[in-house]
Amino acid sequence: MSGKDQNKENKKFSKNLISWQKDFGRHNLPWQKQINPYKVWISEIMLQQTQVKTVLPFFEKFMQKYPDIKALSKSRIEDIFELWTGLGYYRRAENIYKSSQIIKNKHNLIFPSTFEEIIDLPGIGRSTAGAILSLAFNKRYAILDGNVKRVLERYFAIKAEKNIDKELWKFSENLLPKNKNDIYSQAIMDLGAIICKKKSPLCEKCPVSLDCKSFKFDLTNVIPIKRKKIIKKEKDLNYFLVVKNKNLILMQKNPNKGIWANLWCPLNFKTKDDCKKYLKKINLKPNIYHYASIKHNLTHMKLNINIYRINVENYPISEEFYWKNIYDKIATAKPFVEIIKKLTEELENENSLLFKAKKGT
Ligand code: ADE
Repeated sequence: MSGKDQNKENKKFSKNLISWQKDFGRHNLPWQKQINPYKVWISEIMLQQTQVKTVLPFFEKFMQKYPDIKALSKSRIEDIFELWTGLGYYRRAENIYKSSQIIKNKHNLIFPSTFEEIIDLPGIGRSTAGAILSLAFNKRYAILDGNVKRVLERYFAIKAEKNIDKELWKFSENLLPKNKNDIYSQAIMDLGAIICKKKSPLCEKCPVSLDCKSFKFDLTNVIPIKRKKIIKKEKDLNYFLVVKNKNLILMQKNPNKGIWANLWCPLNFKTKDDCKKYLKKINLKPNIYHYASIKHNLTHMKLNINIYRINVENYPISEEFYWKNIYDKIATAKPFVEIIKKLTEELENENSLLFKAKKGT
């Protein structure tokens, strides 16, 4: 195809997508209402590696607590972690905190509007910068997240066995319209999420299917090519819920590097025996009960986590520990959120039974 024809095709692509978006795209996402760069930034960070439906309640809570950059810039990192509990990938929360300080000190509390300034903020790569610039500032910048990659690979029938991001960025940039980049960016993401789905794409409803090479050559089930899955290593971990007087749970803060950096977790020992030895050293000999076993996937590893419960009445404490009251909320790593909730409910029940027994009712 000549360069001129290709240009014409590209124009048709964006035009069709923009008119499709108006009728069939998403318009009621909370970050689209009274849109501003701050909301777009927070939503785009939350949407990295996370689906829209998971993000929704976290975004609403976040906006209630931090309605603007000024409020956010006064926060403590622990408070952002707490709001992030359950959303995972905590590095993102840390990056939001660091960015808020940069926006306060360097940009006078105004979210920056140039590519160079935005990509300089922690946690923002080329695609997120493109999303913010197009969605919030209507600027002509491309995006390349998972959904967009799939749309492009299918539309141009690219059988990529290896990483071809460099080529895909070119395609993504060439397709940009001259105007309405805010609608167009949302449109291409929506198309990927609603129509050009991983499995069983809805080609009959697609606004660009007539020019889609994979549709034309019946390749939509083949493209994108399934790359070989990396086999994740497995690791066994042992965590210990030390409970004092039925209302305090011992937590320990993780170092600022490694998994669950800076988050509060129950005590951790390599083995149950190591835990026993440690307890003996501090003159304690409580029973150690198995409490739960959970599996948790990280990007690079599969974790098998054994959780034990230990009831104590006295426990020597040092600064690195924290006795979490059952009503206290603190930022803990995702696999422990449900476990601590379960334990808290059980302790509440145990306490109310005790209370009733004491009153003789
Ligand atoms: N994924 C990333 N950004 C998004 C957005 N603005 N809307 C829907 N899904 C998204």
